Amino acid sequence: MSLKISSFEEYERVYKQSVEQPEQFWDGIADTFLWKKKWDKTLEWNFKEPNVKWFQGAKLNITENCLDRHLEKSGDKPAIIWEPNDPNDDHRVLTYRQLHDKVCQFANVLKNNGVKKGDRICIYMPMVPELAIAVLACARIGAIHSVVFGGFSAQSIADRILDATCSLVITADGGFRGAKDIPLKTVIDDALVQCPSVKKVIVLTRSRTAVSMIKGRDVWWEDEVKKVETQGNLTFAAEEMDAEDMLFILYTSGSTGKPKGVVHTCGGYMVYAGYTFANVFQYNPGEVYFCTADIGWITGHSYIVYGPLSQGATTLMFEGIPTYPDAGRFWDVVDKHKVNILYTAPTAIRSLMSFGDDMLRGKDLSTLTKLGSVGEPINEEAWHWFDEKIGHGHCPIVDTWWQTETGGIMISPIAGVTKTKPSFATLPLPGIQPLLVDENGKEITGNGVSGNLCIKFPWPGMIRTTYGDHERCRTAYFATYENLYFTGDGCLRDEDGYYRITGRVDDVLNVSGHRIGTAEVENAINMHSSVVESAVVGYPHDIKGQGVYAFVVCPEKHGDDELTRKDIAMTVTRIIGAIARPDKIQFVSGLPKTRSGKIMRRILRKIAEGETSNLGDTSTLLDPNVVEEIKSGAL
Ligand code: WTA
Repeated sequence: MSLKISSFEEYERVYKQSVEQPEQFWDGIADTFLWKKKWDKTLEWNFKEPNVKWFQGAKLNITENCLDRHLEKSGDKPAIIWEPNDPNDDHRVLTYRQLHDKVCQFANVLKNNGVKKGDRICIYMPMVPELAIAVLACARIGAIHSVVFGGFSAQSIADRILDATCSLVITADGGFRGAKDIPLKTVIDDALVQCPSVKKVIVLTRSRTAVSMIKGRDVWWEDEVKKVETQGNLTFAAEEMDAEDMLFILYTSGSTGKPKGVVHTCGGYMVYAGYTFANVFQYNPGEVYFCTADIGWITGHSYIVYGPLSQGATTLMFEGIPTYPDAGRFWDVVDKHKVNILYTAPTAIRSLMSFGDDMLRGKDLSTLTKLGSVGEPINEEAWHWFDEKIGHGHCPIVDTWWQTETGGIMISPIAGVTKTKPSFATLPLPGIQPLLVDENGKEITGNGVSGNLCIKFPWPGMIRTTYGDHERCRTAYFATYENLYFTGDGCLRDEDGYYRITGRVDDVLNVSGHRIGTAEVENAINMHSSVVESAVVGYPHDIKGQGVYAFVVCPEKHGDDELTRKDIAMTVTRIIGAIARPDKIQFVSGLPKTRSGKIMRRILRKIAEGETSNLGDTSTLLDPNVVEEIKSGAL
C-alpha cells in the first residue's frame, strides 16, 4: 500500500474514512512500517486524564524503520547530504548503509559508556551529521534523547538535564554558525556544575577550540569510536521497544512556569512522522529534500531525521545560517545539491526577501518542485515572494501548521494534491479532527468563523505526557476545554472551510519561529539585581514575526539607562539564551494593575503595538495614571 494520496477526490474519501473508522484507517497506515510484533489494540484513549495509547502490544525499533529496512534496496542511496557552514569546506554524503553503520557504531559507544534502555541523554550539538547519528543511536539502544537547541544558555540546559535526570551528555567542542564560533562544551561545563546525575560527557571534535576535559567524566567521540572499532563491535541489534515506550523528550515553552518536557513515544510518533512526511511533501524516490530547521526543534526531529529517513528519503542537513557568507546561501545550497523540496520558515523568507532579488541572480532554482513553510503564520507578501521568486509560480507551497506537542503536521495542503491559499494552512490531514470553540468551550460551527483551535480525537503522533509531571500535561492541554486538546492557537475558518492560523491566544510569543513564554522571560528579567518587576509582551516585527517588548520597573539603575538595558539583556541571555533577549526595554515607574494586583497585559500589548489611541476601559486600574506615563515613554 502506498502512503500517498494522489488526488483531491482521494483526499476527501480518505479523510472521511479516517474520521468514521479511525482505527482501521491507522491500522492500514501502520501496516506499511516494520514491526517486530504487531499490536493487539490500535487505540485506547480519554482526554480526561489524559490517557492516549496507540498500537499497544506492538514491538519495534524506529531505527530499523529509518535504516535497516532500506539497506537491501537503497543501501547505496544518500540518506544524509550535509552542507557545512563554510561553503569552501567539503560537503558530506552518508548513504543509508554508511549511516546505519555509524549509528550501530555509536550505539556501541553509548553502551560502553554505561547507557541502558530508558536512560535519558541530553544532546547539545551543532548541525553536523553526528547529531543525527547521536539521536538515532539513542533510539537504537532505547535511550530517551532530549536534544537542546544550541542557542540555549547553560542555565537552560541545566534545568532540562535536572528535570529529566540525564545521565550522559553528547556535545561538541564548539560549533560554527555564520561568522560565529559557539563554545558548546564550555556552556555544557557551566551547566554541569549543577547536574550531579551526569556521569559522562561525549565530546565530538568540530571546531577544535580549546576545551576542558575532566578525567573520568569527559571522553572524545573519536576515541570512543576507535575503541569500538578495535573491539570489532560493528553491529548493534536494535533494542525491542514497546510502541508506547518513550522515544524522546523535547522541552518547549508554555504560558506558565519553566519549559515542559513534551514526551513522544516510539510507535505512534514513527507512524505519524512518516505518514505526514510522505503525504504533505509527496516525496518521490530520488528527490533531494532540504528542511532548514535545526534538529534542536521539533521540525528537525520529525522532518530532518525521523520522517524522511523512515521513508527512505534523501535529507539535506545544513550547518549554517541563511545569511552567511551572504543572503544568497540557501539558493546556493539549492543550486549545488539540486534540491527538489525546500521546507523553511516565514522568518527566513522575510529576512532573505529584505535583501532584494539581486541575491537570486545566477542561482539555478529550477530543480525545485515543492516548497514548504512552518513555525508561524506566513504573511501574504512573503508567501507571494516565495511562490514567485523561489518557486517561479509552479511549486505548490505547503503551509504546515503543527506543534511540538502534535509530533507532526496537522493542518496543511498536500503538495500538488489539495489546493493552496496564501497564508492559509488550508485543510486537516487525514486522521485530524480540528474544531473551533469560543471562550466557554462551545463549538463554533459553520464557515466564515474564528475561534480557539482544538482537536477532538487522538492521532498517533500526539503528546503522551509532560516528563515527570503528568498533571501539567493535563492542565496545559486538556483542562481548558472538556474532552478536547487545546492548541493555544487562534484560528479562522473561511467560507470554503479552509483554516488560517492567526497566532497564539495565550502568553506565548513566536519570535523568529521560536516559542518563548512571556512568564519565562519575565522571570529571567526579574533576576537582574535592580529589577523590581517586569511584564513582557510581543509586538509585530517585520522579520521576526514578533519581537519581545519588556516593561521594566527598575528604580535604581547602576549606570545610565542604556547600560542597564544591556545588563538586563545579558541577564536574559544568561538565564535563557540569546533567543529570548528583549528587543525593546522600556523603564516604567509601575505596571498597569487591577485592584486585585493582576497586570493588564491587554493594555501593554496595545502600547507595544504602537496603538495608543484606543486602550479600552482603564477604569478598573489601581492607578490609571501609570498608563499615561507608559504611553508617553513607549519605544
Ligand atoms: C505556530 C513548530 C501559523 C503556532 C512546528 C503553534 C504556526 C506554534 C504554523 C508551535 C503555521 C506553527 N502557521 N502558525 N504554519 N506552524 N505555528 O512547538 O502558534 O515550535 O502553536 O512547533 O507555532 O511551535 P512549535
